Amino acid sequence: MACSLLCPDRLGGSEPTPLATDLGSEQRFDPERALLSIGGCPRGRAGIYVRQPSGYRAFIPQSLPPGNPPIELTLERSRLLSDATLALGRLDAAAQLIPNPDLFIGMYVNREAVLSSQIEGTRASLADLLVFQVEGQSEYPVEAAEVINHVSAMNHGLSRLADLPLSLNLICEIHRVLLSGVRGQNREPGQFRRTQNWIGPAAGCTLAQATFVPPPPQKLMEHLTNLENFMHDETCPPLIRAGLAHAQFETIHPFLDGNGRIGRLLITFMLFQERVLHRPLLYLSYFLKSNRAEYYDRLQAVRLPGHWEEWLDFFLRGVAETSTESWRTVRAILDLQQKHRELLQTRKVSGNVVRVHELLWRYPIVTIPYLQRELKLTYAGVNRIVLRLVELGILQESTGNRRNRRFADDDYLSLFADVPNDPDETSSGADRQEDLPLGPRRPKRA
Ligand SMILES: Nc1ncnc2c1ncn2[C@@H]1O[C@H](COP(=O)(O)OP(=O)(O)O)[C@@H](O)[C@H]1O
Ligand SMILES: [Mg+2]
Repeated sequence: MACSLLCPDRLGGSEPTPLATDLGSEQRFDPERALLSIGGCPRGRAGIYVRQPSGYRAFIPQSLPPGNPPIELTLERSRLLSDATLALGRLDAAAQLIPNPDLFIGMYVNREAVLSSQIEGTRASLADLLVFQVEGQSEYPVEAAEVINHVSAMNHGLSRLADLPLSLNLICEIHRVLLSGVRGQNREPGQFRRTQNWIGPAAGCTLAQATFVPPPPQKLMEHLTNLENFMHDETCPPLIRAGLAHAQFETIHPFLDGNGRIGRLLITFMLFQERVLHRPLLYLSYFLKSNRAEYYDRLQAVRLPGHWEEWLDFFLRGVAETSTESWRTVRAILDLQQKHRELLQTRKVSGNVVRVHELLWRYPIVTIPYLQRELKLTYAGVNRIVLRLVELGILQESTGNRRNRRFADDDYLSLFADVPNDPDETSSGADRQEDLPLGPRRPKRA
């Protein structure tokens, strides 16, 4: 399968390529085709709605890559692609030059897990997750546990990808880790759905009110197999491939729950597998959460009007902005590391203070019992170390309590800002499934 891109003039090779304007005029002058087009794209470009035997209509996507017409690569879109590629390359190169990036990559993974879960309505913050990681407590324990699962799912996927290609089996494996033991347990962890589901407009809506009805369960494997093949289609530039694959995955919505989170993980996994990124440092959830309404609208517009290009523009803009932002963060972390290390050197601190300080890049919120366990030291010993770091201005006590104190490296934490939650953020209403109350057109159980 080859990925075809429609290149307007000057971008093409020696073969004459169809021009964007040619395509436009073809559509303008062919009355029959004009009748069949929606928003400038031939009807059914991304798929069509098909009435199911029990009366409701489900969306049947076209296979990837889009072929009728192929993705239009205008000069402007080529620039977006090259900006995104350059920004990502700069981030990747920076990460490769750092002596020990794994120290802080854990924080990137944490932050992505928090933001990706927040897109789906989880309230646990990065601080909740960090506290939960060291002491198992949080204002939102179930949600924090869910975010920890997300971290495990990401790490599991990344380690498996060292020896295995990205496949449907691996996606199921990662899904099992994501939904294990928490609220998703009755949502069939690790299994593609066997029932019909639907999306929005609000939580609890019926199938009859749905904004979008993904393909019926009996069609899933066909669409998923095409997607799996497409994920390895080397004729398509990796960033375009990742963008198309994410949108198609959300359209197929193959799981009862977790589609948004797994779909976003797929982006990282695809780029990692292609060695576009050697370290998992690009996470789009900050961008997607900051532009959540546009994210959903663009996904939705891929389906019926077939606006693949607009989705790709949005996606590429996200990659460029996020890569640049992550690159700045990497540099800020390096500056902070250097500042702290110089301080520790000039103050001639003990080896144990240095050990705790190194641990903070991975766990920037700590408690005395946690450090006792980690370092196998006495309470008094750890207390002395922590107070030394407080005195040096590296740690701050964050509870104001005399007991059960927590200490945070605020300068470091401030480099991983949260996106404020949208005040009228209603859940996307995604992941409804047949066993919820239905409207008049209730489908039969598969
Ligand atoms: N029209 C749409 N409205 C809302 N979400 C959509 C739409 N189309 C696709 N989605 C995707 O569905 C995801 C939510 O699906 P869901 O299975 O609940 O994922 P998760 O459990 O990770 O929350 C969103 O994050 C988004 O990626
Ligand atoms: Mg969900």
